[in-house]
Amino acid sequence: MRKQKTLFITVEGGEGSGKTTHSNLLKDYLAKSGFSVLLTREPGGTALAEALRKILLTPNSNLTPLSELLLYEAARAQHIQEIILPALKDGKAVVCDRFTDATLAYQGYGRGLSASLISKLNGAASYAIKPTLTFYLDIDPKLGLKKAKSLDKESYGKDGDRIERESRAFHQRVREGYLAQAKKEPKRIKIIKTDKNIAKTWNLIEKELEKCLKKF
Ligand code: TMP
Repeated sequence: MRKQKTLFITVEGGEGSGKTTHSNLLKDYLAKSGFSVLLTREPGGTALAEALRKILLTPNSNLTPLSELLLYEAARAQHIQEIILPALKDGKAVVCDRFTDATLAYQGYGRGLSASLISKLNGAASYAIKPTLTFYLDIDPKLGLKKAKSLDKESYGKDGDRIERESRAFHQRVREGYLAQAKKEPKRIKIIKTDKNIAKTWNLIEKELEKCLKKF
């Protein structure tokens, strides 16, 4: 196994942007490059966090925006301590499907909660661990929502999960949130256009990844 520094890659994007497909491709690529890789997701990755995921994504609950934020952060705190930190300490490369940027985009821009509160909670729940590199898969919400609902990956029905059922305007704000964050941190967050096919999107990711791996 090759000697390495910490490699923590996160994959972000709107609904139906292809995050899961590309997270899997990232895992395979890194494994072929000699890394021992952990692929995980948020909310989720541990039994408790997966149970919180169910609560967060089941439609028709009466969660308030603040309760929603705190549940995402609780899932994160558990996930970081139980799964991500031990894997990084073991020298594994970690690929995580969504992380702290999602909270700023969805609960900050989407729900309108305070960005400074979210940053504090993100910092505490993630033990201030920052991704080495983040891919933001950009998709027009109109297209992405249609795709996500038709796939119905977690069986929430044709209208999608609780978040997918939010308005187009909500998802548009989420997109603006991600783009604003990418503008603030261009070295870490790479905007990946997803308007072509999977192979072309992967090509864009691969190029950025190769640049990053040269530093290892
Ligand atoms: P996904 O795994 O299909 O992307 O579903 C997770 C959903 O949870 C997605 O709609 C984005 C949302 N989410 C938040 O609203 N805040 C968060 O902090 C995270 C990690 C996800």
